[in-house]
Amino acid sequence: MPLSVQLKTPITGEFTQPTGLWINNEWVEGVDKKSFEVINPTTEEVICSVSEATEKDVDLAVAAARKAFNGVWRTTTPQQRGIYLLKLAELAEKNLDLLAAVESLDNGKSITMARGDVGAVVGCLRYYGGWADKIEGKTIDINHETFHYTRQEPIGVCGQIIPWNFPLLMLAWKIGPALATGNTIVLKTAEQTPLSGLVFANLVKEAGFPPGVLNIISGIGKIAGAALSAHLDVDKIAFTGSTVVGRAIMKAAASSNLKKVTLELGGKSPNIVFNDADIEQAISWVNFGIYYNHGQCCCAGSRVYVQEGIYDKFIAAFKARAEQNAVGDPFDENTFQGPQVSQLQYDRIMGYIEEGKKDGATVEAGGERHGDKGYFIKPTIFTNVTPDMKIMREEIFGPVVAVAKFKTEEEVVALGNDSAYGLAAAVHTKDLNTAIRVSNDLRAGTVWVNSYNLLHHQLPFGGYKESGIGRELGEAALANYTQNKSVSIRLGGPLF
Ligand code: NAI
Ligand code: MG
Repeated sequence: MPLSVQLKTPITGEFTQPTGLWINNEWVEGVDKKSFEVINPTTEEVICSVSEATEKDVDLAVAAARKAFNGVWRTTTPQQRGIYLLKLAELAEKNLDLLAAVESLDNGKSITMARGDVGAVVGCLRYYGGWADKIEGKTIDINHETFHYTRQEPIGVCGQIIPWNFPLLMLAWKIGPALATGNTIVLKTAEQTPLSGLVFANLVKEAGFPPGVLNIISGIGKIAGAALSAHLDVDKIAFTGSTVVGRAIMKAAASSNLKKVTLELGGKSPNIVFNDADIEQAISWVNFGIYYNHGQCCCAGSRVYVQEGIYDKFIAAFKARAEQNAVGDPFDENTFQGPQVSQLQYDRIMGYIEEGKKDGATVEAGGERHGDKGYFIKPTIFTNVTPDMKIMREEIFGPVVAVAKFKTEEEVVALGNDSAYGLAAAVHTKDLNTAIRVSNDLRAGTVWVNSYNLLHHQLPFGGYKESGIGRELGEAALANYTQNKSVSIRLGGPLF
C-alpha cells in the first residue's frame, strides 16, 4: 500500500494525495496493512484507497499523543501553542484551493461551498490561536491564613471522531480549542471522506507542531472509532455524528475509564414563518436552511411551519425557488447542490421520501432522483405533513423538507418544541416582540431570526435535549477541553 497517490481535479490539476496514517508527524501504513476504497459520489467511481487504522494503530497513535502530552507539549508555552495554530491557519489559507478541491472531489459539495468551508477553517484556527495564551485561572480569597488559586488545565489525550458532511470544518472545530488549551489529539475522519484530512495533515508538521501532538487517522467507525472511545488511555472523547453512535460512545466511555464526553448530534430544526415576514427573504432563508450542503447539516431547517395567512403564496413561491437550485457537478462554479455523500445516504433519504409518500404527504417538488449517475436527489418539498409522520419526526439528512401550516404563536411554539432534538431553530417575522418571545420559548441551542445557518467561530454552537452535550466554537468550547484545578496554600496562623 503506497503512502501517497497522484490524483487530479479540474481546479488543481495533478496533486499528491497522502494515503497513509498520520502518526507522530510521519506517514505510516497500518500495522495490519489494511485499506479501504474512497468513492467519488459524483461519478460513483473509486478515487483511490487509503490505509485503514485498526485497534493496533489506534494504540500507536494514542501512545504517541500520550508521550507528547507528558513531554514536549507540557513545556510548550501557551503563546507558542498559539503561534503554531496561527501558522496552521496561514498554511490552510495558502492551500485553500487544493483543500477545497479535495473536499469537493470526495464529499461532492460544490466548489464554491467547499471554498467557504476552508475559509471558515482558517477563521476558526486563527480564533483559537488567539485564545491559547488567554486561558486563565482565578485567585479566590477565603481567609487570612490561606491562599487559593485555580488553574484551567488541559484534559490530556483527546479522541476526536468527526463526520463526513463538513470534513475539514469539523476537524477545525475539534482541533482548534483542544490544541489551544494544551491537549494532544488522535482524530479519526469519517470513512466516507478521509482525503481532505490527509492533505491537511501534511500542514501539521510544516506549522511546527511537535510529533504526537496531532495525529490524524482514517478508519471505520465500528473498528477505529470504537477503539478510540473505549481506550483506557484516552482522557476525553469528542464526537459529531448520529445520535445512535453518540449513545454508543457514551456507553463506551462509561464502561471503560469514564473519559469525558462531548457530543454534537442530530437535529430536526423548526423554521417558522409568520404572516408578517418579508416573504421573499423568508423563502430564500428557508431554501438555504434546508438545501445548503444538500441537506446534510445537523442544523438543517427540515421542519418548516408557515402561518395560514401567507401559506398558499409561500408554497407556490418556495416551490419555484427550490426548482431553480442548480443541481449538478460540484466542480461547476454555478452548482448549488451536488450529490449526497454515499450510496447508503442516498438510499436512506430515498427511503424517507417513500415513507412520506406512503403516509399521505403531498410531494410539491422533487421526490425523485436527479440524473442517472451519482447520488443526486432533487430538492424535495412535502406539504400536508402531520406531526406524527416519520418525515416530520426523524432526521433525514438530505434535501427533503416537511412543511405544515399553523394558526397561532402558541401553537407553533408547541409544534417547534415537539421533537427529541434541540439543535437549532429560526423565526421569520418583522415584529421584534414576536421574534424575541419565540426565540426565548424555543428549546434549541441556536435560534436565527430572519436568517438561517449563520454560524461563526465566535458564536457557541451545540444542542439542547438529544442534540448533544457541550458547546463547540466560541469561548464556550474551551470548557470542553479544560479541567479546573483548585490549589490551596496554607500561609500560617492557628492550625484549626
Ligand atoms: P455516524 O454517526 O455513523 O458517523 C459519524 C462518525 O462516527 C464517523 O467518523 C464514523 O466512522 C464514526 N462511528 C460510526 N460508528 C462508530 C462507533 N460505533 N464508535 C465510534 N465511532 C463510530 O453517521 P453516518 O452513519 O455516517 O450517518 C448516519 C446519520 O447520522 C445521518 O443520516 C445523519 O442523520 C447523522 N449524522 C449527523 C451528523 C451531524 O453533523 N450531527 C453528521 C453525520 C451524520
Ligand atoms: Mg467519498
